[in-house]
Amino acid sequence: MTDHKVLLIAGGSGSIGSAIARHALSQGWKVALHGRRLEKVDAAVTGLSYLGPIDGFLADIWQEDAAETLVAEVAEQYGRIDAVIDCTATGPMGITGLFPETSPEVFGDFLNVSVGWIERLAHAAYDFLSQQGGTLIGFVSDAGIYAAPRQTLIGAARAGTIGFIRNFAVEAARDGIRAHVISPSFVEGSESALRMGSERMAKAARRAGLGLPAADDIAPLALFLCSDGAAKITGQVISLNGGLNA
Ligand SMILES: NC(=O)c1ccc[n+]([C@@H]2O[C@H](COP(=O)([O-])OP(=O)(O)OC[C@H]3O[C@@H](n4cnc5c(N)ncnc54)[C@H](OP(=O)(O)O)[C@@H]3O)[C@@H](O)[C@H]2O)c1
Repeated sequence: MTDHKVLLIAGGSGSIGSAIARHALSQGWKVALHGRRLEKVDAAVTGLSYLGPIDGFLADIWQEDAAETLVAEVAEQYGRIDAVIDCTATGPMGITGLFPETSPEVFGDFLNVSVGWIERLAHAAYDFLSQQGGTLIGFVSDAGIYAAPRQTLIGAARAGTIGFIRNFAVEAARDGIRAHVISPSFVEGSESALRMGSERMAKAARRAGLGLPAADDIAPLALFLCSDGAAKITGQVISLNGGLNA
């Protein structure tokens, strides 16, 4: 057993996950950082290990037993799990766009990841989180909250994530578990921002009175929600978008 609280970051090798890992290590957490590609997980772990205890874990979330295997490996290594933050993003290829041009197959896959993965992760981690009074956090995009053109499929899938977490939160509170959703909109410096291109990011930045967030603006919120200071807060959906939507 360890005295450090243990945080599992699914998709921790990505832009937001690695920022959360860095802030968590600075706050004394032990971090289990998950990703799909070995080289990215290794790079993240190597780059952050000077800050504190961190280990890498690999799993492809499309594999049926990925959540159970991942959680079991983390629990075996540390003996406890105090928080799970899911930052996985499989890339919305074909999930945005005018509705007639979108495909039911792409939607089915994205829905499976958006709702099915967090549901499987919650199942796998439930007993560990319950033992520690732990926290589960999912990430969505603002399309799940605010209606907009070209966002019908991603909005529906992300609304599913939100529906899962909010209902889960009410029930799991009885077992001492808290659950939240964080919704970034456009994140400066992220891989997703690179994919969107500078023109679209600049347009969004002009609409965000506070300026668009970077991953380092998101990490403190995620960790606050996992902290004792947030012990009586659950089921919240927080959009962190610099004033882009409200
Ligand atoms: N960044 C933004 O602008 C933005 C905006 C709105 C919402 N969000 C949401 O915020 C969350 C985090 O976003 P991010 O920008 O940090 O994403 P990201 O940088 O693209 O990172 C995604 C993470 O998911 C992992 N992943 C992807 N496919 C996987 C698979 N099949 N199996 C296992 N792991 C897989 C990636 O590992 P590999 O790299 O090895 O594949 C990586 O660790 C996501 O839910 C995203 O939708 C982000």
